[in-house]
Parts: sequence; structure tokens; C-alpha cells
Amino acid sequence: MELKQVYQPIEAEFKRVSAVLSTSLTSSKNKSILEINRFLLASGGKKLRPAMVILSAKASTGKTRRQGCDKSLIDLAAAIELIHRASLIHDDIIDHADLRHSKPTINRQWGQEVAIAAGDYLYAEAFRLIASCGNPDVLACIGTATKLMCEGELHQVCERDNIELLKQQYLLVVKQKTAALFAASCQAGAMLAHANPLQQNILMKYGLSFGMAFQIRDDYMDLVGSQEDLGKSPGTDFKMGELTLPLFNLLEESKNKDQIMSLIRQADKQEAFEELRKCFINSDAFLKTKAEINGYVRKAQKSIETLPQSSFKEGLFILADRFVI
Ligand code: IPE
Ligand code: IPE
Ligand code: MG
Ligand code: MG
Repeated sequence: MELKQVYQPIEAEFKRVSAVLSTSLTSSKNKSILEINRFLLASGGKKLRPAMVILSAKASTGKTRRQGCDKSLIDLAAAIELIHRASLIHDDIIDHADLRHSKPTINRQWGQEVAIAAGDYLYAEAFRLIASCGNPDVLACIGTATKLMCEGELHQVCERDNIELLKQQYLLVVKQKTAALFAASCQAGAMLAHANPLQQNILMKYGLSFGMAFQIRDDYMDLVGSQEDLGKSPGTDFKMGELTLPLFNLLEESKNKDQIMSLIRQADKQEAFEELRKCFINSDAFLKTKAEINGYVRKAQKSIETLPQSSFKEGLFILADRFVI
């Protein structure tokens, strides 16, 4: 995915975020911890959430010129990336995943015990950094979103193999586990930039709709994408007994619901997954799912319409556009 155009107006801030991440992850004197953290630093990721923190801060104030920003904003952006990375390390344990960023997961490479402790370490460092920003409202905003994210993950794992799960429950999980942190990234960025509550709310809504689109797209890609494109193994949701929007839509649109239900029940079989993928691609559910994803992207873009024009607002608009499918 080409995100250069989005990141270009905040290039200098991004370099500072990378420097904070590097310092945070190389501060330990312990060789084993350093090895894991260096692996994490090298494995990349899109850094969408730090981009949203900075773009939101700058878009909210309406300044058109590129100006430097406070250290606290950079620390916040880095901290949110650490929270996200911690959630992925724990998610890969929960999902029994072997591959992320086209590399072995921490649980695969070092085992589950190490992965649990490594995720905890990143959470702790993230909240230490946020505390250093000295803004209790920002701390509350990110603390609440992190709790929601954990609630979403817990909700999802508790509902595994529940074939009676409702689409509404699935959408709540998506909102909690993914959209909440995007929303908080945008809102907290605006808070640190002293944006007024209305502007904060506009940006929070952008992040929320973007996050919905983002997670549903991820679930769609889990069904139709390739390992090469994703850098992770497709079919993980299906294998873990998780119902996602593509499957809800397939069940709604299919003339042979029994066949779909029977495939869903065979979550341990690769052939059942391949068959389900084929059924989905050849059904109206395919277009319906894309339309729902694009609907959330457009909603995100519409939320920020009233912000003053700037390259940062444009960055948020283009960022969302990259996720149209
Ligand atoms: C992956 O998030 C987890 C989901 C919420 C679907 P990202 O796609 O943002 O993760 P990076 O880019 O690999 O860090
Ligand atoms: C994302 O969930 C994890 C969090 C939001 C914490 P998924 O399990 O759907 O994400 P991937 O597909 O592993 O990246
Ligand atoms: Mg996962
Ligand atoms: Mg998961």
C-alpha cells in the first residue's frame, strides 16, 4: 500500500517518532530483551496510528504551514504505536498465528511465555511515555481506548465457535478492538494541540469510522487475500472459529445457507476454507461487503469536511482513500 503521499507532510515528526521508538526499545541492558525489541523495530508495520496522532493534531489547529511540534505529541504517537504492537503480540498468541510482517511471530520465534511478557513490556513502556506527556485527559483517553481494545479481544475470543453470534455483536467487537484506538489516536492528538471539544469530536469520529473500515477490510482480506499480500496467513479468522462480516453477508445472501453453515462448522479443514472463499467471491456478499467497507471510509472522510483546509486534513482524507476496496 502506497502511503508516501500521506506521510510526506509529517516526515520530520515521523523521524522523531522512530527515534523515540528506538530509544524505548533499546533501553534495556538485558541481551534477550534487546534481541526481541530489535526484531520488533526491524519488522516495521505501517505506523498508521502515529500518523493519525500527528495529522489530527495539525489538522485540528488549521495551520497550513509545516511547523515543528511538541515533544509530548511525538511521545504520544510513539506510545500509541507501542500499545498497538503489544496488542498484536498478544493477538498472535490468541490467534495461534505464525506469521506477521512476513516474519515469524514472537510466539513462533520465542514461545508463548516470552510473547506474553514482551507484550506486557511494551504496554508498560507505552504508559510510561504517555504519563510523561503530563496531560491527564490524554492519559484517560488512551487508557479508556486500550481497555476497550482488550474488551473487544476478550469478547471475540469468548464468542469463538458461537455460530449464533449476531452481526451487531461482531460490529461491536470491531468497534472495541480496533476502531476505539484509532478514534483515541485522533482525539488525543487534537487534545495535545489544544483543539476545542468540537474539533476533537470531529477527529474522534473520523478515527472511529476509519477503524471500522480498516478492521472489516482486514477480515475481508483474511478470506480473499494471499499470504504474499498480507504478510500473515489468510484464513486465520475462519480457523479460529470467528464469524466476520464477509460470512454474515454470505449467510444473508446465499440461497444454500445449509451448505455455508456446514463449511463454517469445518473450521479445521483447509478445503472447507477454500470452498467458502469461492462461495464468497461468487456471491452478492462480495460486493455487499466491499460497499460496507467503502461506506465507512466515506463516512470517515465526511466527518472531517468542516475542518479548515490544510495539507494535514488532506493527508487524513487520502489516508482513508487508500483503504477503499
Ligand atoms: C493490524 O493492524 C491489526 C488490525 C487491527 C487489523 P495494522 O495493519 O495497522 O498493523 P501494522 O501496520 O502491521 O502495524
Ligand atoms: C486485530 O485483530 C487485533 C487487535 C485489534 C488487537 P485480528 O486478529 O483480526 O488482526 P490480524 O489479522 O491478526 O492482524
Ligand atoms: Mg490476529
Ligand atoms: Mg485476532
